[in-house]
Amino acid sequence: MSDGSSFSITTPIFYVNDVPHIGHAYTEVAADFLARWHRQRGDDTWLLTGTDEHGQKILRSAVANDMTPREWADRLVETAWLPLLNTLDVANDDFIRTTDERHERGVTAFLQKLYDDGYIYSGDFEGFYCVGCEEYKQPSDLVAGTGPYEGQQVCAIHSIPVEVLSERNYFFRMSDFQQRLLDLYESNPQFIQPESVRNEVIRFVSQGLRDLSISRSTFDWGIKLPWDDEQVLYVWFDALLNYITALGYGSDDDEAFRRLWPSVHVIGKDIARFHAVIWPAMLMAADVPVPERVFGHGWLLVGGEKMSKSKGTGIVPVEITERFGSDAFRYYFLRAFVFGSDGSFSWEDISNRYHAELANGYGNLASRIIAMLLRYFDGAVPARGALTDSDTAIDELAERVTGRADEAMLALQPHLAIAAAYELVEALNGYITEQQPWVLAKDDAQRERLGTVLTTALRGLGTVSVLFSPVMPKATETLWASIGAGGSIADQRVDRAWEWQAATTVSPLENGLFPRVEQPEQGAA
Ligand code: ME8
Ligand code: MG
Repeated sequence: MSDGSSFSITTPIFYVNDVPHIGHAYTEVAADFLARWHRQRGDDTWLLTGTDEHGQKILRSAVANDMTPREWADRLVETAWLPLLNTLDVANDDFIRTTDERHERGVTAFLQKLYDDGYIYSGDFEGFYCVGCEEYKQPSDLVAGTGPYEGQQVCAIHSIPVEVLSERNYFFRMSDFQQRLLDLYESNPQFIQPESVRNEVIRFVSQGLRDLSISRSTFDWGIKLPWDDEQVLYVWFDALLNYITALGYGSDDDEAFRRLWPSVHVIGKDIARFHAVIWPAMLMAADVPVPERVFGHGWLLVGGEKMSKSKGTGIVPVEITERFGSDAFRYYFLRAFVFGSDGSFSWEDISNRYHAELANGYGNLASRIIAMLLRYFDGAVPARGALTDSDTAIDELAERVTGRADEAMLALQPHLAIAAAYELVEALNGYITEQQPWVLAKDDAQRERLGTVLTTALRGLGTVSVLFSPVMPKATETLWASIGAGGSIADQRVDRAWEWQAATTVSPLENGLFPRVEQPEQGAA
């Protein structure tokens, strides 16, 4: 990829039955980090996020709170889901709600096309449905209930009884697409990642696909089928279409759709089948290109189980950002968790990394370099003299880690990109310890050498900061102003971060980038 490529990336659209927890926040910051990275390599970038507002799950939350579903959704979007983006510093380009008129219009156009082309038929549906999952279930998906549900069959994920449905509705001919889907996974191994999720999807599709019930007649909170207004569209069929209706699919102005589709979908692995099976089958039926990639990241676990709204195990993101700040939140989740594997959040772990890597590692590096340039050179950045092997090693490492970080980001491995940049932080701290500028400063004959060391370190610091800017936009912007680099760090090219040559002056970094944070009480939320 080079200048002028387009990079369009999405998060799932989240259910507004409840407020977000750090699992949703994790997906948001991952997608935002990737989007910022691509913007900073000159790609025409678009980050889409939003909310999923139809279906029984939302309807029931609204009813339980004595509101209409629309009022309920408005309230949750205003008070919780939009503020989340602010809390996390997510620079999304659009926010779609499935109750937006533009979405309903695009969905209607899409459905009519599938209907006209014979991919939809009416039939009798008999089966199980879990409202928690908003998913049809096979008997093999159910397990024996316990406690109050002793003697009943319950959803294996939500541990609550499923609904037994028997109604006339409409079906999508998904079974027609089994072979085309298997061919897609085979010919494009990157389509669904990571490998563990890909294997699970292939195993599932290989067993054969059933046609999918795509409408419901027993409630009306949803998009009406254009040819039968007694039925509303199945919430997942509705939700998946957000990715193209947001870009103007099916409207008079589909310029964004033509420019930006297909997108990269970042999701949690819980919803991989919807994105890697149902969604591409829908698109194939409508003659629309399938997504560029689907990446199913791992779960944040609590007591070995997926953190979840319905189980009440969610930690609210502001609890963490209030203590450590949004930059540290973003850094921690993207650095400490292998993207694609499960992991457990712990206060001790975030506190340790914050102090070791941000306060002492990167923050202290920045403070030391700036303080010495101020003390020994009044803040005027000296020119470098002859370079030693140690200086050249720093220059070369800066170039290497830039390349590695960029490669990792293109491969959707944010944790490896951060690790590469962090390697330069450690090397720079080691370089300063070894070169001992405070000793050089005592000897006038070493003045040029002192300047070379500090400027070499400053250049490295600039490189690290550019590489860190998509993950920690606030702290790196502060640093950028202090090293006199001019403009916004967000305008720096990440793929050329190593080229930065240092400006002419530095100014004091007032409070340090990452002040120490009191250890939370043991067991505090
Ligand atoms: O599934 N760990 O919405 P949802 C990591 N509306 N990520 C987590 C997580 C956890 N413990 N819990 C949630 C839906 N997530 C549908 C999506 S898309 C067309 C429709 C994140 O509110 C993760 O991204 O249940 C997961 O896939 C998503 O939230 C599910 O959010
Ligand atoms: Mg869910």
